[in-house]
Amino acid sequence: RSPLCRREQIQMTKYIIAPSILASDMTQLGNEIAAAESAGADWIHVDVMDGRFVPNITMGQFIVEACRRVTGLPLDVHLMIEKPEEHLETFAKAGASTLTVHVETCPHLHRTLQYIKSLGCKAGVVLNPGTPVGALEAVLGEADLVLVMSVNPGFGGQKFIPESLARIKEIRKMLEALGSSAWLEVDGGVSVETVAQLKEAGATAFVAGTSVFKHPQGIEAGIKVLRDYLK
Ligand code: DX5
Ligand code: ZN
Repeated sequence: RSPLCRREQIQMTKYIIAPSILASDMTQLGNEIAAAESAGADWIHVDVMDGRFVPNITMGQFIVEACRRVTGLPLDVHLMIEKPEEHLETFAKAGASTLTVHVETCPHLHRTLQYIKSLGCKAGVVLNPGTPVGALEAVLGEADLVLVMSVNPGFGGQKFIPESLARIKEIRKMLEALGSSAWLEVDGGVSVETVAQLKEAGATAFVAGTSVFKHPQGIEAGIKVLRDYLK
């Protein structure tokens, strides 16, 4: 095998752990991110909620900016907001690496994904648990990342919806048919109980809030137990 093949293989088998700071101790945000980074987190997931698209209000561009100052890790910004296109530039300037928009909020999804890339960010698209996977079909070629919600968005610490597994499998097939190397990310209820099945279904990136930041043995242990499944 040539070194190139080995490199390709390493890339293919790379799994991403993206701790969600929604579950972190916000009075210690810098320390919490540093602990996640030194324990081997790959990305930092930032949940932006507007109290309209989802029934909760969380954080905005100032927190993204603050995260950018304390870590060099990619910032995986999940926009659970109405009219996300009006805020994309602001989040890009704040230091987002990936901007992920909900299918349900974007009437001009194809244009929005192209716009995200024109801002120098990776373009992500996300589906609520009740949205048919077919809604992705026409834009899949534009996506650098596809996110499957495995809980209804709005809160951390919810119970994993098992039907998500079949949805991930279906999207994996769609990506393969297209020859797409987009990340297939899952968000909601990712834990030692669900991670093996999610990997098996074809997920390559794993958002984890509660199971990392609220792990009884601490952040490092929370990441380590997930990493044991994601090598
Ligand atoms: C939910 C958010 C998630 C949340 C996941 O709306 O999008 O990112 O933080 O939390 P856990 O991992 O606790 O289910
Ligand atoms: Zn999220």
